[in-house]
Amino acid sequence: MKKILFTILLASSFISAQYTDINIVKEVKVKNKGVVVSAHPLASEAGAKVLKSGGNAYDAIIATQYALAVVYPQAGNIGGGGFLVGVKNNGEKFTIDYRETAPKKASRDMYLDKKGNANTDLSQNGRLSVGIPGSVAGFFATSKYSKLPMEKLIQPAIDLAEKGFAITDQEANLLNASKEYFQKHNKTSNAFVKNEAWKSGDILIQKELAETLRLIQKFGLKGFYQGKTAELLIAEMRKDNGIITLDDLKNYKVAERKVLEFEYKGNTVVSMPLPSSGGILLAQMLKMSGYENLEKYQHNSTKAVQIMVEAERRAFADRAEYMGDPDFIHDKTLYLISDEYLKNRWKNFSFTQATPSSDVGKIIKQPKESTETTHISVIDKDGNAAAVTTTLNGLYGSKVVVSGAGFFLNNEMDDFSVKPGVPNMFGAVGGEANSIQPNKRMLSSMTPTIVLKNGKPFMIVGTPGGTTIPTSVYQSIVNAIDFKLNPNISVNSPKFHHQWLPETVAFEKNFPENTISNLEKIGYKAERWGQLGRTEMILIDDSGNIHAVADGRGDDSVAVE
Ligand code: GLY
Repeated sequence: MKKILFTILLASSFISAQYTDINIVKEVKVKNKGVVVSAHPLASEAGAKVLKSGGNAYDAIIATQYALAVVYPQAGNIGGGGFLVGVKNNGEKFTIDYRETAPKKASRDMYLDKKGNANTDLSQNGRLSVGIPGSVAGFFATSKYSKLPMEKLIQPAIDLAEKGFAITDQEANLLNASKEYFQKHNKTSNAFVKNEAWKSGDILIQKELAETLRLIQKFGLKGFYQGKTAELLIAEMRKDNGIITLDDLKNYKVAERKVLEFEYKGNTVVSMPLPSSGGILLAQMLKMSGYENLEKYQHNSTKAVQIMVEAERRAFADRAEYMGDPDFIHDKTLYLISDEYLKNRWKNFSFTQATPSSDVGKIIKQPKESTETTHISVIDKDGNAAAVTTTLNGLYGSKVVVSGAGFFLNNEMDDFSVKPGVPNMFGAVGGEANSIQPNKRMLSSMTPTIVLKNGKPFMIVGTPGGTTIPTSVYQSIVNAIDFKLNPNISVNSPKFHHQWLPETVAFEKNFPENTISNLEKIGYKAERWGQLGRTEMILIDDSGNIHAVADGRGDDSVAVE
């Protein structure tokens, strides 16, 4: 091994050596070429190679996701779910919802003990926390828009799993830190646990996963949702308290939903509708801060941050009250993003003091949401664009590896309100819209987004981070559009996060201290967090130059066709 290269501003395409060199490319400026930005250099490269061999953005996003399931097992997945937002070069906009669903045997109070207390260990770890995986069905639904055969798109992932690849320092640390959980939830051996500690440059080989991917390659959807893989998944459920059945797997369906779109300062923002809260929150926050002409203020100045925190507060209060799977609730999206509603919502904003969270929503107890997820942004040379955010929910999901099939299962059930309708310490109730019901999708925060200028992709953006996803995407967009920052600074400058409850504002390390202390003087409570999100942004300027930025907070990397 194993050199790790950090390359800034490459002007042309970049091809790494195979699997033992990790070449991290943080920023690229190109023209008339396709680019892929993802959390891992080998996954970005898998997508870029597909572009080079004649594939379009949708081929590339499929190949990149399969590759992430191998090289980025903490969040890349075939055992989880995700959302795709696409804009084709003919202007067609579409989404694919491959969010996990609750098993048929799931029920509203399944995580409550005899005293009615939520047992979040069960909703967050082990077999009962698993939702029916949607990712593989999502890849096949995406192939409606792609050009190359699925067998070809899956091959890079098979090679990576079969031959192995050198892990980075970050991955070694995460695998080591998770060892005791892997051992607790898996009694049989798997690729992720070995006697000695993992270190940077070790080769991770996943033979069982390679075999599973081959079954998908050979039998298509049935290679995952039926036959050997499905049986191994069900056998895994039976080892403990899992409730997913063969019928659940066979009956899983993706949903193609109408994009959520709205105008922002001469641009059209195209994002994910329910069951992700992301698009609605983004629309609400951009519109409310727009009422104060945000662009008048300096980036990360006291006034700008105050406006944005207050927009975040109001949007997140609505998330808790109104949002859930639109196939199960009355969908109020159009009202929630209307100026009529939002102008009224903004009326009690004041520069002189923080708005108490109790003034903007019924106080309910909010579960803490996990931050592990991953995002991919792609554009091809013909101008087709795709944004995908995909997740296992927690770090390595439920920590359960399907024995004999080699992939992690999600713990997405925890994204439901595991205890809705029960009065909390303040006597208020909430979260019913996101209560557990069989076959229902759990509410998400994932915000894959494409911003159009004159109908053409101007920005493709998204990030992991649980509830911090919509606020990080929001800030990345206003950084570029309102504060006119370049894409690198838009992604890498320190961010902040507020979500109504708790009442605190989280500031990323390196955030300007004078802004924080000014906000504290008018009633804001500050917390310092290590990092917020890992944003992957592609921005296309008026001259057609493509600027692609992989977040500096991780091993994220850009690849060019
Ligand atoms: N599991 C993270 C999300 O869907 O928002």
